[in-house]
Order: sequence, then C-alpha cells, then structure tokens
Amino acid sequence: MKFGFIGTGSMGSNLVQAFVQSYAMQPDHIIVSNRTRDKAERLALDCPGIHVADHNLETARKADCIFLCVKPGDFRHVLDEIQDVVRPDQYVISITSPVMIRDLEEHLEGKIAKVIPSICHAALSGNSLLIPGTRFSDEDTQWLYQLFSCISEPLYIDEAHTRAASDLASCGPAFLANILEQWTRAAVKVTGLPEETAVSLVEQMVIGTGKLLSENGFTLQSLQDRVAVPGGITREGLHLLNDAFTPCFTRLFQLTHMKFSEDLHKVQQSFQRAEKKL
Ligand SMILES: NC(=O)c1ccc[n+]([C@@H]2O[C@H](COP(=O)([O-])OP(=O)(O)OC[C@H]3O[C@@H](n4cnc5c(N)ncnc54)[C@H](OP(=O)(O)O)[C@@H]3O)[C@@H](O)[C@H]2O)c1
Repeated sequence: MKFGFIGTGSMGSNLVQAFVQSYAMQPDHIIVSNRTRDKAERLALDCPGIHVADHNLETARKADCIFLCVKPGDFRHVLDEIQDVVRPDQYVISITSPVMIRDLEEHLEGKIAKVIPSICHAALSGNSLLIPGTRFSDEDTQWLYQLFSCISEPLYIDEAHTRAASDLASCGPAFLANILEQWTRAAVKVTGLPEETAVSLVEQMVIGTGKLLSENGFTLQSLQDRVAVPGGITREGLHLLNDAFTPCFTRLFQLTHMKFSEDLHKVQQSFQRAEKKL
C-alpha cells in the first residue's frame, strides 16, 4: 500500500517519522507534498527513501491512503486541487478537527476518516482519536485501528467530542508542559532553587509519574491518596490546587470550544464559497 501525506509541517512530519520508526510504513511507499517544497525535502533527508512529489495532485493520484495534514484555512484549496482525482477505493484521512467528515464526504469520493494525532506518537505513545466516516466498512475500520496501533493507543470517539478529546490528548502535552514550566519558574522565584535543579526535578518527576500510571497500576486518584497523607503538606497543596485549577480548566475548555466554533464557521464558509463557484 502507498501512503501520501499532503502537508509536512509539524504533525505531517511527526506522523511520517513515527510510522517509519515503527516499521508500519516503508519509506519507499511514502509520497509527500508540501506548499513550501523545502520542508518536504528536509523530511526526505530525515527519512531516506520517501518520495517528494511535485504537487498535491501527484500525491493524491499515487497514494492508496492520503493523509491531509494542513490547517483548517488551507483545506478548501487542497480539496479543490485533488477532488477530481480522488477515487472511491482510496482512503483519505484528515487530521484536522474543525473540518467535518460530512463536508469531506461531500467533496471527495474516497473513504474518509478523521484521526486526531498527538505529538506523543513521536515516542510511539499517546492516544490517537479515530472517527471513521460513513464509507468505512468494518474491515476498513479494523485496518485503520491496526495502522494507528503501530504508533499509539487508538481510541474511537464520537465526532461531537472531537474538541474536548483533542484538548486532552493532542493539546494536552503542550498544556502540561506549560503548567510544569510555570511551576519550575515559581520554584526559582519564590525559593531561590537553581533553575537547572528545578527543571531536572520536574522532568524526572513527570517521567516517574507517567511510569507509575502506565506500568505500576496507579490511577490519578490513587496516586494522590498515596502521597497525600492526612494532615501532611501535600494535602494542603492539593486543596489549593483544587480551588485554583477547577475554574481555570473550565475556562480552558470554554476557550478552546469558542476557537473551534470560529474555525468551523470559517471552514464551512469557505466550502460554501467553493460550491457557489461550481
Ligand atoms: N501539531 C499538533 O500537535 C497537531 C495535533 C493534532 C492535529 N493537528 C492538526 O494538524 C493540522 C496541521 O497542523 P500542524 O501543526 O502540522 O501545522 P503546520 O506545522 O503549520 O503544518 C501545516 C503544513 O501544511 C502545509 N500546507 C498548507 N497549504 C498547503 C497546500 N495547499 N498544499 C500542501 N501543503 C500545504 C504548510 O506548508 P508551508 O510550509 O508552506 O507553510 C505546512 O507545512 C492542523 O489542522 C492541526 O489542527 C496538529
């Protein structure tokens, strides 16, 4: 099977590298195209054997499975370019949350799915969020699951939950890194702990916590219970964090959903403009 990637930015490249690293795809079965060709060529240097196409049409024609890895605002342009060559037997996988499956199915003849990946796949871990479209048979769905099992823990989700699930699985690594960075800065500012020490402590702590959750049978709740003995320092800290973070995370979901609605609206408008032109 040949795999095509349209868009080799941050996530397009991340996916190609993860699939190659996991041996799920052979480099000489991968064809990529990117608006700025240099970026695709840099990826080809990192993954020798992959083919850089001259344009998206070539990628779409030659691949059995086409990954669309462009931002919401660039979708319409890409769909306009490839819609005449996409065949009903081809898989088309979009990784963009505010582009709805029904819109893609209206514009392309292929078997459409939406998959929201995560930067964690670079470490062959994290959840990939799978939403097979209406043209996916049980066999197609199984194939998709197996493909993403090579680089992640796939999880089926309802398209209506795409944003919330993406906030946790996909934006999550950045959000968590930000919280840890702020915590580190506070340690330096409030206590005078050397920055290098603070950074190292936090990094090792988060690696260890991940192992406890993944390998040692802990849950988020049992971890807190185990460390926070009654009357101890940790318990005091947890009270403060509950008060501070609950409104903050509520606001975070409201904010990401607002931005999602704006993007969705813009994408739908661009599709309507495209239909009027036809
Ligand atoms: N980054 C993540 O962690 C992540 C996670 C899950 C989902 N996603 C989704 O993945 C999508 C891409 O995100 P990203 O972070 O990879 O963005 P990005 O780094 O900006 O990459 C987008 C790429 O698309 C290319 N592009 C734009 N128009 C094109 C066209 N007409 N033909 C070919 N290539 C084109 C851009 O080329 P240029 O080099 O010319 O700009 C750029 O390299 C977004 O919808 C995002 O929501 C991202």
